[in-house]
Amino acid sequence: AGSGKFFVGGNWKCNGTKDSISKLVSDLNSASLESDVDVVVAPPFVYLDQVKNTLTEQIEIAAQNCWTGKGGAFTGEISVEQLKDLGCKWVILGHSERRHILGENNEFIGKKATYALSQNLGVIACIGELLEEREAGKTFDICFQQMKAFADAVPSWDDIVIAYEPVWAIGTGKVATPEQAQEVHVAVRDWLSKNVTAEVASKTRIIYGGSVSGGNCAELAKKEDIDGFLVGGASLKGPEFATIINSVT
Ligand code: G3P
Repeated sequence: AGSGKFFVGGNWKCNGTKDSISKLVSDLNSASLESDVDVVVAPPFVYLDQVKNTLTEQIEIAAQNCWTGKGGAFTGEISVEQLKDLGCKWVILGHSERRHILGENNEFIGKKATYALSQNLGVIACIGELLEEREAGKTFDICFQQMKAFADAVPSWDDIVIAYEPVWAIGTGKVATPEQAQEVHVAVRDWLSKNVTAEVASKTRIIYGGSVSGGNCAELAKKEDIDGFLVGGASLKGPEFATIINSVT
Protein backbone atom coordinates (compact mmCIF):
# COMPACT_ATOMS: atom_id res chain seq x y z
CA ALA A 1 0.00 0.00 0.00
CA GLY A 2 1.17 3.49 -0.79
CA SER A 3 -0.13 6.94 0.02
CA GLY A 4 -3.75 7.58 0.97
CA LYS A 5 -5.89 5.77 3.47
CA PHE A 6 -6.27 2.04 2.79
CA PHE A 7 -9.73 1.39 1.29
CA VAL A 8 -11.53 -1.94 1.46
CA GLY A 9 -14.91 -2.50 -0.16
CA GLY A 10 -17.12 -5.55 0.12
CA ASN A 11 -19.28 -6.08 -2.94
CA TRP A 12 -22.02 -8.46 -1.88
CA LYS A 13 -23.38 -8.61 -5.45
CA CYS A 14 -26.80 -10.29 -5.78
CA ASN A 15 -26.44 -12.39 -2.62
CA GLY A 16 -28.14 -12.67 0.72
CA THR A 17 -31.45 -12.79 2.54
CA LYS A 18 -32.69 -10.73 5.49
CA ASP A 19 -31.44 -13.50 7.78
CA SER A 20 -28.03 -14.12 6.22
CA ILE A 21 -27.40 -10.38 6.06
CA SER A 22 -28.36 -9.91 9.68
CA LYS A 23 -25.78 -12.60 10.61
CA LEU A 24 -23.11 -10.98 8.41
CA VAL A 25 -23.78 -7.56 9.96
CA SER A 26 -23.52 -8.98 13.45
CA ASP A 27 -20.22 -10.70 12.58
CA LEU A 28 -18.86 -7.41 11.22
CA ASN A 29 -20.09 -5.50 14.26
CA SER A 30 -18.23 -7.82 16.59
CA ALA A 31 -15.01 -7.98 14.54
CA SER A 32 -12.09 -5.88 15.61
CA LEU A 33 -11.16 -3.68 12.66
CA GLU A 34 -8.12 -1.47 12.14
CA SER A 35 -9.30 2.10 12.55
CA ASP A 36 -7.09 3.58 9.85
CA VAL A 37 -8.98 2.00 6.95
CA ASP A 38 -11.96 3.24 4.95
CA VAL A 39 -14.36 0.31 4.90
CA VAL A 40 -17.44 0.15 2.72
CA VAL A 41 -19.95 -2.62 2.01
CA ALA A 42 -22.31 -2.76 -0.95
CA PRO A 43 -25.42 -4.84 -0.19
CA PRO A 44 -28.14 -5.41 -2.77
CA PHE A 45 -30.43 -2.33 -2.99
CA VAL A 46 -33.27 -4.03 -1.14
CA TYR A 47 -31.13 -4.56 1.96
CA LEU A 48 -29.39 -1.17 2.06
CA ASP A 49 -31.75 0.22 4.67
CA GLN A 50 -31.48 -2.87 6.89
CA VAL A 51 -27.70 -2.73 6.73
CA LYS A 52 -27.47 1.02 7.29
CA ASN A 53 -29.70 0.73 10.35
CA THR A 54 -27.81 -2.13 11.97
CA LEU A 55 -24.16 -1.93 10.90
CA THR A 56 -21.39 -0.28 12.92
CA GLU A 57 -20.75 3.33 11.90
CA GLN A 58 -17.15 2.37 11.21
CA ILE A 59 -18.36 0.88 7.92
CA GLU A 60 -20.04 3.02 5.25
CA ILE A 61 -22.57 1.67 2.79
CA ALA A 62 -22.34 1.74 -0.98
CA ALA A 63 -24.77 0.94 -3.78
CA GLN A 64 -23.90 -1.48 -6.57
CA ASN A 65 -25.34 0.76 -9.30
CA CYS A 66 -27.38 3.93 -9.82
CA TRP A 67 -29.41 5.76 -12.44
CA THR A 68 -27.85 8.42 -14.70
CA GLY A 69 -29.85 11.38 -13.43
CA LYS A 70 -32.76 12.48 -11.29
CA GLY A 71 -35.46 9.91 -10.56
CA GLY A 72 -38.81 9.81 -12.34
CA ALA A 73 -40.37 7.54 -14.95
CA PHE A 74 -37.50 5.00 -15.11
CA THR A 75 -39.00 1.66 -14.19
CA GLY A 76 -36.67 -0.53 -12.21
CA GLU A 77 -34.01 2.12 -11.64
CA ILE A 78 -32.74 3.63 -8.37
CA SER A 79 -31.77 7.29 -8.20
CA VAL A 80 -28.74 8.84 -6.57
CA GLU A 81 -31.08 10.93 -4.40
CA GLN A 82 -32.74 7.76 -3.10
CA LEU A 83 -29.36 6.23 -2.31
CA LYS A 84 -28.34 9.33 -0.42
CA ASP A 85 -31.66 9.31 1.41
CA LEU A 86 -30.71 5.87 2.78
CA GLY A 87 -27.30 7.08 3.87
CA CYS A 88 -25.15 5.71 1.03
CA LYS A 89 -21.78 7.38 0.64
CA TRP A 90 -20.54 5.48 -2.41
CA VAL A 91 -21.65 3.77 -5.58
CA ILE A 92 -19.81 1.08 -7.56
CA LEU A 93 -19.80 1.94 -11.29
CA GLY A 94 -18.40 0.13 -14.30
CA HIS A 95 -18.21 -3.24 -12.61
CA SER A 96 -17.35 -5.95 -15.13
CA GLU A 97 -20.60 -7.79 -14.46
CA ARG A 98 -22.52 -4.70 -15.52
CA ARG A 99 -20.24 -4.13 -18.51
CA HIS A 100 -20.23 -7.71 -19.75
CA ILE A 101 -23.49 -9.26 -18.53
CA LEU A 102 -25.74 -6.18 -18.63
CA GLY A 103 -24.04 -4.58 -21.62
CA GLU A 104 -23.19 -1.20 -20.08
CA ASN A 105 -20.75 0.82 -22.16
CA ASN A 106 -18.21 3.47 -21.22
CA GLU A 107 -20.51 6.33 -22.19
CA PHE A 108 -23.42 5.12 -20.04
CA ILE A 109 -21.12 4.46 -17.10
CA GLY A 110 -19.59 7.92 -17.54
CA LYS A 111 -23.04 9.54 -17.33
CA LYS A 112 -23.73 7.78 -14.07
CA ALA A 113 -20.37 8.86 -12.66
CA THR A 114 -20.98 12.49 -13.65
CA TYR A 115 -24.36 12.56 -11.97
CA ALA A 116 -23.33 10.66 -8.83
CA LEU A 117 -20.39 13.00 -8.24
CA SER A 118 -22.54 16.07 -8.88
CA GLN A 119 -24.69 14.91 -5.94
CA ASN A 120 -21.65 14.18 -3.74
CA LEU A 121 -21.91 10.41 -3.94
CA GLY A 122 -18.42 8.90 -4.10
CA VAL A 123 -17.66 6.63 -7.04
CA ILE A 124 -15.79 3.33 -6.95
CA ALA A 125 -14.82 3.28 -10.63
CA CYS A 126 -14.07 -0.22 -11.92
CA ILE A 127 -11.81 -1.06 -14.82
CA GLY A 128 -10.24 -4.27 -16.04
CA GLU A 129 -9.46 -6.46 -19.02
CA LEU A 130 -10.88 -9.80 -20.19
CA LEU A 131 -8.58 -12.82 -20.37
CA GLU A 132 -8.48 -12.68 -24.17
CA GLU A 133 -7.50 -9.01 -24.01
CA ARG A 134 -4.66 -9.80 -21.59
CA GLU A 135 -3.49 -12.64 -23.79
CA ALA A 136 -3.53 -10.33 -26.81
CA GLY A 137 -1.31 -7.87 -24.93
CA LYS A 138 -4.11 -5.28 -24.68
CA THR A 139 -4.41 -4.96 -20.91
CA PHE A 140 -3.12 -1.40 -20.74
CA ASP A 141 -5.09 -0.27 -23.82
CA ILE A 142 -8.35 -1.51 -22.35
CA CYS A 143 -7.70 -0.08 -18.90
CA PHE A 144 -6.66 3.27 -20.37
CA GLN A 145 -9.79 3.44 -22.57
CA GLN A 146 -11.93 2.81 -19.50
CA MET A 147 -9.93 5.41 -17.55
CA LYS A 148 -10.37 7.94 -20.34
CA ALA A 149 -14.14 7.43 -20.30
CA PHE A 150 -14.20 8.22 -16.59
CA ALA A 151 -11.79 11.14 -17.02
CA ASP A 152 -13.93 12.63 -19.80
CA ALA A 153 -17.02 12.37 -17.62
CA VAL A 154 -15.92 13.57 -14.21
CA PRO A 155 -15.35 17.14 -13.09
CA SER A 156 -12.91 16.20 -10.34
CA TRP A 157 -11.18 13.14 -8.91
CA ASP A 158 -11.69 14.07 -5.26
CA ASP A 159 -14.38 11.46 -4.58
CA ILE A 160 -13.23 8.62 -6.80
CA VAL A 161 -11.51 5.38 -5.92
CA ILE A 162 -10.33 3.29 -8.87
CA ALA A 163 -10.82 -0.47 -8.66
CA TYR A 164 -8.68 -2.54 -10.98
CA GLU A 165 -10.48 -5.84 -11.41
CA PRO A 166 -9.10 -8.10 -14.13
CA VAL A 167 -12.18 -9.95 -15.36
CA TRP A 168 -10.37 -13.31 -15.46
CA ALA A 169 -9.70 -13.02 -11.72
CA ILE A 170 -13.27 -12.25 -10.66
CA GLY A 171 -14.99 -15.13 -8.91
CA THR A 172 -12.55 -17.62 -10.41
CA GLY A 173 -10.17 -18.19 -7.52
CA LYS A 174 -7.38 -17.10 -9.92
CA VAL A 175 -6.09 -14.03 -8.14
CA ALA A 176 -3.66 -11.77 -10.02
CA THR A 177 -0.17 -12.11 -8.62
CA PRO A 178 0.98 -9.12 -6.58
CA GLU A 179 3.36 -8.31 -9.48
CA GLN A 180 0.60 -8.47 -12.11
CA ALA A 181 -1.64 -6.19 -10.05
CA GLN A 182 1.18 -3.79 -9.19
CA GLU A 183 2.15 -3.52 -12.87
CA VAL A 184 -1.32 -2.34 -13.87
CA HIS A 185 -1.74 -0.08 -10.84
CA VAL A 186 1.51 1.73 -11.67
CA ALA A 187 0.45 2.06 -15.29
CA VAL A 188 -2.92 3.52 -14.28
CA ARG A 189 -1.24 5.95 -11.90
CA ASP A 190 1.13 6.97 -14.64
CA TRP A 191 -1.84 7.45 -16.99
CA LEU A 192 -3.47 9.75 -14.41
CA SER A 193 -0.27 11.72 -14.09
CA LYS A 194 0.00 12.25 -17.84
CA ASN A 195 -3.70 12.76 -18.57
CA VAL A 196 -5.05 14.42 -15.43
CA THR A 197 -2.46 15.81 -13.01
CA ALA A 198 0.47 14.53 -10.97
CA GLU A 199 -1.41 15.49 -7.83
CA VAL A 200 -4.46 13.40 -8.75
CA ALA A 201 -2.14 10.52 -9.67
CA SER A 202 -0.47 10.54 -6.30
CA LYS A 203 -3.55 10.94 -4.15
CA THR A 204 -6.08 8.70 -5.95
CA ARG A 205 -6.44 5.32 -4.35
CA ILE A 206 -6.19 2.37 -6.72
CA ILE A 207 -7.59 -0.80 -5.19
CA TYR A 208 -7.43 -4.35 -6.50
CA GLY A 209 -10.34 -6.79 -6.95
CA GLY A 210 -10.55 -10.36 -8.17
CA SER A 211 -10.44 -13.44 -5.90
CA VAL A 212 -8.99 -11.52 -2.95
CA SER A 213 -9.07 -13.74 0.13
CA GLY A 214 -7.89 -13.89 3.70
CA GLY A 215 -4.99 -15.99 2.43
CA ASN A 216 -3.67 -13.76 -0.35
CA CYS A 217 -4.46 -10.22 0.87
CA ALA A 218 -1.29 -9.69 2.91
CA GLU A 219 1.08 -10.24 -0.02
CA LEU A 220 -0.99 -8.00 -2.30
CA ALA A 221 -1.24 -5.26 0.33
CA LYS A 222 2.54 -5.02 0.51
CA LYS A 223 2.74 -3.67 -3.03
CA GLU A 224 3.34 0.02 -3.15
CA ASP A 225 0.50 0.92 -5.53
CA ILE A 226 -2.17 -1.40 -4.12
CA ASP A 227 -4.15 0.94 -1.89
CA GLY A 228 -6.83 -1.51 -0.82
CA PHE A 229 -9.25 -4.09 -2.17
CA LEU A 230 -12.68 -4.59 -3.68
CA VAL A 231 -13.78 -7.98 -2.43
CA GLY A 232 -16.63 -10.16 -3.70
CA GLY A 233 -17.03 -13.71 -2.38
CA ALA A 234 -14.81 -13.30 0.68
CA SER A 235 -16.76 -10.22 1.80
CA LEU A 236 -19.76 -12.46 2.50
CA LYS A 237 -17.84 -14.04 5.38
CA GLY A 238 -17.43 -11.60 8.27
CA PRO A 239 -14.22 -12.98 9.82
CA GLU A 240 -12.47 -13.33 6.45
CA PHE A 241 -13.50 -9.83 5.39
CA ALA A 242 -12.10 -8.55 8.71
CA THR A 243 -8.78 -10.26 7.94
CA ILE A 244 -8.68 -8.48 4.59
CA ILE A 245 -9.46 -5.10 6.17
CA ASN A 246 -6.74 -5.69 8.75
CA SER A 247 -4.14 -6.50 6.06
CA VAL A 248 -3.42 -2.75 5.87
CA THR A 249 0.34 -2.31 6.14
O1 G3P B 1 -16.28 -6.32 -7.05
C1 G3P B 1 -15.59 -7.38 -6.47
C2 G3P B 1 -15.38 -8.49 -7.39
O2 G3P B 1 -15.83 -8.42 -8.64
C3 G3P B 1 -14.44 -9.55 -7.04
O3 G3P B 1 -15.18 -10.69 -6.79
O4 G3P B 1 -15.61 -12.85 -5.76
O5 G3P B 1 -13.55 -12.50 -7.15
O6 G3P B 1 -13.73 -11.42 -4.93
P1 G3P B 1 -14.47 -11.95 -6.12
